[in-house]
Amino acid sequence: MTSPVISPVTSPVTSPPDESLLRGFPFPFPADAYRYSTNVEPARRPVATPAGQWGAPVVDVDVEYHRELAERADILAADPSRHAVLPHMRPAAWDAALTLLKELAAAYPGSMRLTRLPGEGRWRWENRLLALTWDFTYADDDSLPEEPLRWIAGQVQEDIVLLDQRNDALWGDAGVVTFAADWSFGFDVGMSFLEIHGPVPRVRQEGVITRAHEFIKRLQPHQPYRRTNWTMTIGRRLDVSTERYHEWGPDRETIRLVDDETFGRTVHLRVEVQHLIRLPDSGAVMFLIRTYMLPLEQLARVEEWRVRTAEVLAELPEDMADYKGVIKYKDRAAAWLRAAGAREAR
Ligand code: HEM
Repeated sequence: MTSPVISPVTSPVTSPPDESLLRGFPFPFPADAYRYSTNVEPARRPVATPAGQWGAPVVDVDVEYHRELAERADILAADPSRHAVLPHMRPAAWDAALTLLKELAAAYPGSMRLTRLPGEGRWRWENRLLALTWDFTYADDDSLPEEPLRWIAGQVQEDIVLLDQRNDALWGDAGVVTFAADWSFGFDVGMSFLEIHGPVPRVRQEGVITRAHEFIKRLQPHQPYRRTNWTMTIGRRLDVSTERYHEWGPDRETIRLVDDETFGRTVHLRVEVQHLIRLPDSGAVMFLIRTYMLPLEQLARVEEWRVRTAEVLAELPEDMADYKGVIKYKDRAAAWLRAAGAREAR
């Protein structure tokens, strides 16, 4: 009798991602060493990469659209703490919803359309990807099937946080966050921007977060900015929130037990493209977090990315590697990437 093979890693590794995900991957490393910085730049500027391009739209719809929205819906149904709108943020939630509808319509005119209807604040929204047509009245909660932020989060792959600006500070007072990378939206909601960044090493001493705070407070409507952030994830697992740590956390240990082939398929470079947008009606700031994952196996196919990622991981200081949760396997990832070059050369 043969016993079943038990994989030491529990996170899902689905079939290799679509080629288009490699072409649109927002590779995050501008140099061979990575340090935190207030790395903001104007949004909407396309970035050419050796594999393709990213960055033209503020909201990015890709081949994972339906799968990711279904996953978000499941997470929200199972855990209400992933969605919160403090009472004073209701106008901001509407502002965010309309702003995102406009972004979708502008970026995807073939499948999304927003039309003004006769009557004050009346709109028609058509989203052909979801076979959805809906007429609504701006700021009338009864005109949507659910709370506006949750409704729009059902149509974009981005996680959304809304920040209120008062007393010269920013407060994370609303959001729908289902794909958090090792943090908890439910825990952070209502906290100030500076408090939220409390756990991040280095950034306070180096002034990164205070500069970012000042920058965001001055943000103007219609001038969106963006930045990238990165970490690594074991398996193609979008929801690596604190709430589900018990499911994915142990993989950081057990990944050392897998063979090299499995390692390359299972370990992903995870990149967030984050947009910062001052909402025009409410004055709140919308923070969008769009998550992309590429397995090392695919990353290694782009020579520039393979070499640079290996350098960055090998050089990454301990405190940063520890905070990112990659300390136990980042050296193996660097070695794997270097060996992938040698394998290619043979
Ligand atoms: C220019 C703007 C920003 C900068 C420079 C910045 C910088 C950073 C950095 C360096 C990290 C550590 C990331 C890592 O090592 O993986 C971080 C984490 C984080 N950031 Fe930001 N951030 C910015 C905007 C925001 C905004 C607007 C929010 C929304 C509330 C936010 C929420 C978070 C959260 C929740 C974490 C994880 C903290 C934890 O471990 O609990 N960030 N940020």
